[in-house]
Amino acid sequence: MKKLWGGRFTKSAEEWVDEFGASISFDQELVMEDIEGSMAHVAMLSKTGIITEDEAAKIKNGLQQLKEKAANDELSYSVKLEDIHLNLESYLTELAGPVGGKLHTARSRNDQVATDMHLYLRKQVKLIVELINEMQEELIEQAGKNVETIMPGYTHLQRAQPISFAHHLMAYFWMLERDKERFAESLKRINLSPLGAGALAGTTFPIDREYSADLLGFEGIYENSLDAVSDRDFILEFLSSSSILMMHLSRLSEEFILWSSQEFQFIELDDSFATGSSIMPQKKNPDMAELIRGKTGRVYGNLMGLLTVLKGLPLAYNKDMQEDKEGMFDTVKTITGSLKIFAGMIRTMKVKNEQMEKATKNDFSNATELADYLSDKGIPFREAHEVVGKLVLTCVEKGCFLGDLPLDEFKKANTLFEEDIYEVLDPYTAVKRRNSAGGTGFKQVNIAIEKAKKFLAKK
Ligand code: ARG
Repeated sequence: MKKLWGGRFTKSAEEWVDEFGASISFDQELVMEDIEGSMAHVAMLSKTGIITEDEAAKIKNGLQQLKEKAANDELSYSVKLEDIHLNLESYLTELAGPVGGKLHTARSRNDQVATDMHLYLRKQVKLIVELINEMQEELIEQAGKNVETIMPGYTHLQRAQPISFAHHLMAYFWMLERDKERFAESLKRINLSPLGAGALAGTTFPIDREYSADLLGFEGIYENSLDAVSDRDFILEFLSSSSILMMHLSRLSEEFILWSSQEFQFIELDDSFATGSSIMPQKKNPDMAELIRGKTGRVYGNLMGLLTVLKGLPLAYNKDMQEDKEGMFDTVKTITGSLKIFAGMIRTMKVKNEQMEKATKNDFSNATELADYLSDKGIPFREAHEVVGKLVLTCVEKGCFLGDLPLDEFKKANTLFEEDIYEVLDPYTAVKRRNSAGGTGFKQVNIAIEKAKKFLAKK
């Protein structure tokens, strides 16, 4: 097969060499974007009189046919033709005749591929923003049902203070809100047109870059042709936002895994999001959460991979940059999949509120209440902390919890203790009373849920 750039060559590469250099196995993902970009380019070429209207009509007609074939999965690609751009151009010439060769006037694959990727990422990022929204809706929904479900809150994975389960879930809502913002804001930088930058230096043809950018729905054009074809920071930004999102999802995965263990028993994942063991009949494994935690590694890897690919590259295009695609596609697939799985897991999981509540009764996570109680009565907090610490020690020695101690034991520690401490020690009361802004008190959690709903409704 004749190479589209074969003019100055006297010898062709062996097939395995072609295969090594080709990107068609993965960049066929860009087929629709490539056709869309070409449509805008050809419209611009005829508008500026670079090609005739008749020629443009023939090319457009060919592109339209290609689009239909692509939609019906009727195109097969050849490694000999390297990538999606050359494969499509070759098809076009078959369909439209030699005039197809005019499509590439005033264009290079360098600005073409950059354009394709901007179009692709714009579409995907919009979808990702929607998927984050859907997961947030599920979080709000579960939170709404669990405002008064109390559980132990942890620091250092040691029981710290009791909290509302809804409050815990809502923490992730706000993380996702920032993730969503990061993606949405990045659209400003993705939505720029590199088309018309040519190979690196612009072109001698009287092109109209604004016009093709407009047709493609871009908000503006890259100001510098070298920058337009050689930077991939829009992909790096996407991979960074994705890495942060995955870090959040991975932490929630870890919690789901812990919570669904025999040791915690705080939640049970629905059968539809769990798997069994081929040998141990009793097993129900949180595979999906584990996989999301694991897949976080590949997204970080994709970010590090591309950063490393780009770091030593002189301007402008270098073939190294073909390595920008697989990590991007893989990340899109990974994060969209993870977000969908999470929405489903949250919607269907069973919250074992009795277990959670039971856990708050069998620990010292109410110790702060007691210290607050004394400082409320005028004892400096440091001193109160010491008194309560000693009481905890007494309990540890006796093998009981604070609520099990008789009042005279408290009185011995400090005479300000009264009968009402038992009410204060109740974890439910402890949660309820944490009514400071952004705290876990039921009133605050309800306020937060309402706020969150408004946030989503605004979008
Ligand atoms: N397949 C190439 C890539 O993805 C397209 C650009 C090729 N440009 C070039 N000058 N060889 O990067």
